[in-house]
Amino acid sequence: MLIENPLNSSELAFPILECFHIVGFAISVGTIWLVDFRLLGFGMLRESPSQLAKDTFFWTLGGLILMLFSGLMLFSSGPEDYYLNYAFDFKMLFFVSGIIFNYTVHRRTVQSDAPGGGKLVACISIGLWSLVIFGGIFIGFLNSTLDIHHI
Ligand code: HEM
Repeated sequence: MLIENPLNSSELAFPILECFHIVGFAISVGTIWLVDFRLLGFGMLRESPSQLAKDTFFWTLGGLILMLFSGLMLFSSGPEDYYLNYAFDFKMLFFVSGIIFNYTVHRRTVQSDAPGGGKLVACISIGLWSLVIFGGIFIGFLNSTLDIHHI
């Protein structure tokens, strides 16, 4: 007996979940980029990168947890449509790379507060999370055979 996914029985469930997904990425990626802009020498200049990272640590973590849960629930609405979707696979590759980079190289660089240091690390971080976002947006525009059918 196949169990019906409650997400597929209500028209509102998916868009409401996507709202949480977007809020989660604004908080998670938004706070990571605040620190990256500080490393690049603009934005919140009254605080050091390490102080800014300390102040935003739980916001970033909370946002990423919200992304993971809302993302897994969105995924559960049609797993076979997503894991065969190159944009989704591409996004997951950069999501995992972004998480590892953020809590290793990025964290060590930020904590060192080296003057003028960290510009390359900030650019890599901004690039990685941009690719996650692009992957997320293109999920809806690409199907598993990669032919673009919306444009
Ligand atoms: C910080 C990490 C993440 C970011 C920045 C992100 C970003 C996005 C964006 C921008 C969209 C498109 C929303 C739209 O077109 O309305 C999206 C959709 C989606 N994301 Fe994520 N996402 C993240 C993590 C995840 C994770 C971890 C999963 C699954 C395990 C996931 C699964 C999905 C799914 C299934 C969709 C719906 C695609 C659709 O059918 O339109 N996301 N995400």
